[in-house]
Amino acid sequence: MPKTVADLREMKGVEPIAMLTVYDYPTAMALDACDLDILFVGDSLAQTELGLSSTADIGLDQMLHHLFAVARGVKRTHLLADLPFGSYETPEMALEGAKRLLDAGAMSVKLEGPRYDVVELLTANGVAVMGHVGLLPQTARRYRRQGTKVESAARIRKQASQLESVGCYAMVLEFMSHETAETITADLTIPTIGIGAGPACDGQVLVSSDMLGQYESVPSYVRKYAHLYEATKKAGAAYREEVKRRCFPE
Ligand code: KIV
Repeated sequence: MPKTVADLREMKGVEPIAMLTVYDYPTAMALDACDLDILFVGDSLAQTELGLSSTADIGLDQMLHHLFAVARGVKRTHLLADLPFGSYETPEMALEGAKRLLDAGAMSVKLEGPRYDVVELLTANGVAVMGHVGLLPQTARRYRRQGTKVESAARIRKQASQLESVGCYAMVLEFMSHETAETITADLTIPTIGIGAGPACDGQVLVSSDMLGQYESVPSYVRKYAHLYEATKKAGAAYREEVKRRCFPE
């Protein structure tokens, strides 16, 4: 059975949460068999799947298109989906969008930044929300590590605590000083899930296309667990060769 939000909360201090993004049906089927805790249809699909330059370039309909496919492949893992840029400008818009994500198969939703009013309305309506602080790709102008200065560390720390108090069940800490992530992890009673935020977080998330090696160039904090870019090139070249030499089909 997929983990519930309560199960995930109880993992804090007990067992690290393992989370990966996923954007398509075959990858969803394979990753669903890995006993991960959370699979996540992130808006990073704008870049990783659609070749766009920013996560701000996609909307709810594109998220839903991918979520429907992923949900068909995920049976055992908690399925989380992003509210994309522009879909939570008001709490009411967010509620409408979140309901569409839940109807498409998500068990909880994630949004970026200090949107306390939105989290309040969603949780009051029974929608489980994961927060996200630190680097916020939907609005960031530069890809720079956050929380490295005293003031910015204090600001992120305050945002994380307030997001917890309005009802978030977990919190992504993206690309921030490891010390700041460690302090926030100690501050909160809900689990933190880090990406480029160091080892002290209660869990880790990576973009699956990065860790599967679908791209040659990846952020410095990524570890590649496969090399699909090379494998795909090798397979494509071998196929071409066999067609040209009339070795395939036999
Ligand atoms: O969309 C995404 O991939 C994310 C991760 C950075 C957590 O939000």
